[in-house]
Amino acid sequence: MAIISVINQKGGVAKTTTSLNVAASWAKQGKNVLLIDLDPQASATRSIFGDQDFDKTIYDVIINRVTPEETVVRSENFGIDVIPSEIMLSGVDIQIAAHFGRERVLKKKLESIKKKYDAILIDCPPSLGLLTINALMASRDIVIPICPEYFSAKGIDLILETLKNLQTGLGHRVGVRGIVITRYKDRKIAREVIEKIKAEYGVRIFDEYIPDNIAVEEAHHQHLPVVTYSPESRASQAYMTLSSELWENEK
Ligand SMILES: Nc1ncnc2c1ncn2[C@@H]1O[C@H](COP(=O)(O)OP(=O)(O)O)[C@@H](O)[C@H]1O
Ligand SMILES: [Mg+2]
Repeated sequence: MAIISVINQKGGVAKTTTSLNVAASWAKQGKNVLLIDLDPQASATRSIFGDQDFDKTIYDVIINRVTPEETVVRSENFGIDVIPSEIMLSGVDIQIAAHFGRERVLKKKLESIKKKYDAILIDCPPSLGLLTINALMASRDIVIPICPEYFSAKGIDLILETLKNLQTGLGHRVGVRGIVITRYKDRKIAREVIEKIKAEYGVRIFDEYIPDNIAVEEAHHQHLPVVTYSPESRASQAYMTLSSELWENEK
């Protein structure tokens, strides 16, 4: 059973795109997948369901006595179950800040539902605040999407430091599955950034880079994963290969 958070405090590095397409690829490979949209911007929810509104979202799960089961929505387009997000989630950090066990709210809530799935993916917000901490506490592993053009060494340092603090302060060890290179363009700057990451961090970089590809944008507009919208596209093939690579060490 995998619970994986897709994290990076930077926006626009393809966290959501990676979450959606890994989830959909695993579904195509016959896995039972739940995607949790934990970003108040709700990009994953919008990409899957368009402007549809939901009675209950991940916000209610965290704040109210709502069970995750009550919020799950099926997406036939993606072949997955989804817990949608909404803008209300943006106030959650403050709402639960004074709660005892505030870092473990999501983890506790997922206990009941996780047995139903082969994998749960959590699409994190672009911050390392309490929502992301909740995602990390609920996860066994993380995947870090990095877009070479927006690379910041400080950004990776902060993520790794957060993981360390989690282990020492809260006794929870999160594994780093690896870095996914996203929106890759074969240019000198991208190659240099990748070399730098390899040299300076003991973190695996997945062999399959996700190329910058217009099909990704088009797929979002069609409310489909790129692996369904355009299976022959380079981005789709890369996401399928990455997803198999990611599953390899899964038991
Ligand atoms: N491989 C890609 N090729 C082209 N555009 C991409 C690719 N991956 C992501 N994008 C686009 O980049 C933008 C940011 O991606 P998104 O997944 O929302 O990032 P994040 O969740 O990290 O903020 C979106 O408009 C998305 O469609
Ligand atoms: Mg996002």
